[in-house]
Amino acid sequence: MAATIKVVYLFASVIVFIKSCAAENEPELVFANLIWRHGSRSALYSYPSDPYNNKPIWPQGPGQLTQVGMRQEYELGRFFRQRYGKLLSEEYKRSEIYIRSTDVDRTLMSAECNIAALYPPSGRQKWNGTNTTWQPIPVHTIPVETDYLLRFPLHDCPKYSELSSQIVHSPIYQKIEEKYAPFLKELANFTQWDGTMNIKAAWDVEDALVCEKAANLALPSWVTDDRLKKLNEIAGIDMGVLFGGTNPGYQVKIAKAGGAGLLVKAILDNIQRAIDFENTYKVVAYSAHDTTLSALLNALHAYNMRPPPFASAILFEVYKQASADKTSYFVKTFYRNSTVNPALPLSVLGCSFACPFEELKQRAVSVIPVDIDKECERTEVPPSTPACTASSTSAENELQLIFTNVICRHGLRSPLKPIFSDQNMDPKDAGQLTKVGMQQQYELGCFFRQK
Ligand SMILES: *[C@@H]1O[C@H](CO)[C@@H](O)[C@H](O)[C@H]1NC(C)=O
Ligand SMILES: *[C@@H]1O[C@H](CO)[C@@H](O)[C@H](O)[C@H]1NC(C)=O
Ligand SMILES: *[C@@H]1O[C@H](CO)[C@@H](O)[C@H](O)[C@H]1NC(C)=O
Ligand SMILES: *[C@@H]1O[C@H](CO)[C@@H](O)[C@H](O)[C@H]1NC(C)=O
Repeated sequence: MAATIKVVYLFASVIVFIKSCAAENEPELVFANLIWRHGSRSALYSYPSDPYNNKPIWPQGPGQLTQVGMRQEYELGRFFRQRYGKLLSEEYKRSEIYIRSTDVDRTLMSAECNIAALYPPSGRQKWNGTNTTWQPIPVHTIPVETDYLLRFPLHDCPKYSELSSQIVHSPIYQKIEEKYAPFLKELANFTQWDGTMNIKAAWDVEDALVCEKAANLALPSWVTDDRLKKLNEIAGIDMGVLFGGTNPGYQVKIAKAGGAGLLVKAILDNIQRAIDFENTYKVVAYSAHDTTLSALLNALHAYNMRPPPFASAILFEVYKQASADKTSYFVKTFYRNSTVNPALPLSVLGCSFACPFEELKQRAVSVIPVDIDKECERTEVPPSTPACTASSTSAENELQLIFTNVICRHGLRSPLKPIFSDQNMDPKDAGQLTKVGMQQQYELGCFFRQK
C-alpha cells in the first residue's frame, strides 16, 4: 500500500515537474499597452528663407496628417495585427481593445488609419456587402485642456515651469548652447532668422525641414545630410531639456511635476486591471505626440536623446508565467523607433528587459505623483472642462448658407435591455451600433453631401 502511494506520488510529481517545465518555457502574452506617435504631418513652423513659405504645399494647413502619414499609421496597424494576431481576435470585439487619442486632428486620424489595418472587417462584420474594407471603431478623447494623460508638459503646472527654468539656466544648458554656437550662427544666416537663433529655435527649423522632406519636397542646397543630422540631434536635446534628460536628477522631478508620471501610473493601472480581470481589455492603445513619447521615455530613464519619429511606438507587453505553485507576470518593453525597424527591446527604470511586474511597480514609485496638485504646487484649481460654446444663431435674412450645426442621432443599435435573454448576446454588447445602423448613418452622410 505504502509503495503504491509512493509510486503514485512519484508519478504525480513527475507530471507536475513536466508541466511546470513546459509552462516555464512558454510565458503567455496576456496584455499590451501601446503608445504611438501620429504619422507624418504638415509643418507647424517655418523659417524666413523657406522656399515654400506662402506656397500652397499643405492643403489642410499646418500640423495636419499627410497621406504619407496615413500610410505610415496604416502600416503600423498591420504590424500590430501581425504581432498581436493571437492576443486580439480577428474580428473586432469591443471588450478587447480600448483606444484613446489626444483631441488633435492628426492623432485622431492616425488612430483611425492604424485601426483600419488592425481590424479590416471580415465575415459578418462587413456591413455593406462583400466589398466593405473598413468598419467604424471608436477612438475616445477628452479636451486638450483637461488631458492629463497624453499631453506633456502639463500646461498648468507652476512647479514644472520652475524646474524648466532651472534647466535652461544651468551650466549644462549653457555648455550645450556653446557647443552648437558655430552651427547656430551658420543656421541663422541660412534661414535669415530674425531674433536669436538658439537650440529652441533650431527645433522649429528642423520641424519645417523634416516635414518637407517627408513630403518629398526638394530642400534648399544648404540643407545637407550633415546639417539635417545635426538639427535632428538638437531637436532630440530640446526634448531632453523639456523632460529633464539633460540634467541629472531632473527626469524624476519632472516626471512627477508636469511630465509623464501620470502616464506611467495609467499604464501600470491598466496592467494591474488586466491581471486582476477587472476589465477584459487585451490592448489599450494611445495615439499621441513626439513629446508624449519622449516624456514617457524620460520618465522611464530610457530616452536615447533622439526625437521619436513619425509613427514610432512604445509597446508594453505583459507576459504571464504560470508554474505549479505560482503565477507571476513580467513586462517587456519595446521601442519601434522607425517605420521600418523591428520593435527593439528597451530596458526601463533600470530594470532587466523582462521586468517582473511587482518590481516595475516598485521602481516606478519614484516617478509617479501621488497628488498632482501638490507636486505641481498649484495655487489655483485647474480649469474644468469648458462649457459648450453656444452655436451661432441664424441670421434670418442671410441668403447664403455659411454654417450649419447638425445634431444627428446614432443609427440602429442593439437593445440596451434585452427583453428576452438572447443567448448570442453578451450583456456588455448592449447598446452597440449594428450593421443596419452603420448603413443608416452612411445614407445620412450621402444626404448631407448632396445638400
Ligand atoms: C465588388 O468588387 C468587385 C471587384 O472590384 C466588383 O466587380 C463588384 O461589382 C463589387 N460588388 C459590389 C456589390 O459593389
Ligand atoms: C550665408 O548664407 C548664404 C546663402 O543664404 C551663403 O551663400 C553664405 O555662404 C552664408 N554665409 C556663411 C558665413 O555661412
Ligand atoms: C533607433 O534604435 C537604434 C538601435 O538602438 C539606434 O541606433 C537609433 O539611433 C534609434 N533611432 C531613434 C530615432 O531613436
Ligand atoms: C453599399 O455598396 C454599394 C455597392 O458598392 C454602394 O453602391 C452603396 O452606396 C453602398 N451603400 C451603403 C449604405 O454603404
